[in-house]
Amino acid sequence: MDNKVGVKILSTGSFVPRKVLTNFDLEKIVETSDEWISTRTGIKERRVLDKGQTTSDLAYNAAMNAIEKAKIAVESIDMIIVATISPDVPMPSTACYLQKKLKAYGAVAFDISAACSGFLYGVATAKAFIKSGMYKRILLVGVEALSRIIDWTDRNTCILFGDGAGAMIFEASDTENDIVSTYLGASGEHTDILNIPAGGASVPASEETIKKKLHCIKMVGKEVFKIAVLKMSLSLNKVQELVGLTDRDISLYIPHQANLRIIEAVAKKAGITKEKVYVNVHKYGNMSAATTIVALDEAYQEGRFKKGDLVELIAFGAGLTWGACILRINF
Ligand code: UT7
Repeated sequence: MDNKVGVKILSTGSFVPRKVLTNFDLEKIVETSDEWISTRTGIKERRVLDKGQTTSDLAYNAAMNAIEKAKIAVESIDMIIVATISPDVPMPSTACYLQKKLKAYGAVAFDISAACSGFLYGVATAKAFIKSGMYKRILLVGVEALSRIIDWTDRNTCILFGDGAGAMIFEASDTENDIVSTYLGASGEHTDILNIPAGGASVPASEETIKKKLHCIKMVGKEVFKIAVLKMSLSLNKVQELVGLTDRDISLYIPHQANLRIIEAVAKKAGITKEKVYVNVHKYGNMSAATTIVALDEAYQEGRFKKGDLVELIAFGAGLTWGACILRINF
């Protein structure tokens, strides 16, 4: 193993579907109000896939956006990782569908299932594969088509989620080390407070599970909220401590965008100023594995940090899983 191998980030990309679903649209579907959703979550609208579009279509668009910015040939990608909990189908992986769409046949391809922390698990995985010397150029995509796995009669969940995709390209480098720090966590003891109960081996799909909408996302929101604030605050600090950095070194924080109240509570706990925290939850809701990377790509386009700055991503999701990473954006 060559631990001296560094990782350079070549580019980011993102893509969200055109169709916008506002809180006012949701008022016509379930008993809710724009006022409730705005004050309890900060969400105003979210994006939803068109009929006929699927997860790998979103992934393809985000990936092509990143590939064009990086000015690399598709054939030069030797690994494709897709982080998602809303795959095209349970088998094969969405990464293989994406590979086919990209015609990136020189790559190995697999999915990561770590829910809203999926992109951060992907960053750590890409780093490990590159540093081991096994792969040299990796495409990582965080993508969700959550509108397909939501119970549209459940106001506790259907108002929260949205569809979208983001991508990042990494390559081995002798001189750069853009993945400055990573920290991950998981606690399987909380599998029951945020999950999709049926459709797998333990409760196979049946008429009954479909009738009860057990193939859709279920969540004990209040419980998840409390643990999210705790674990995101922990991750925010831990990933800095691991490499001896402090808040002064970080130009922008990009927290998982599940709920504005969670973001504000985490920032308050960590003593971070509002100006250093990126927020786009009002536009997209919670896009799970796509959230942090779409936000990073947008923050880049908006000039929210300078070339060479350190940006910290923090996430939390089903599993439960959590994590953070500090990236140097130098492209
Ligand atoms: O990505 C990681 C995973 N997800 C999260 O991190 C989300 C974590 N949880 C949350 O963001 C919040 O818990 C929610 C936004 C889901 C819910 O907010 P809350 O402040 O915890 O509300 P609640 O569940 O305690 O519900 C309060 C009231 C209830 O009515 P009663 O029992 O007080 O009469 C709910 O029935 O609000 C009601 N309610 C709604 N009312 C209007 C729940 N959903 C809605 C709705 N519209 N959509």
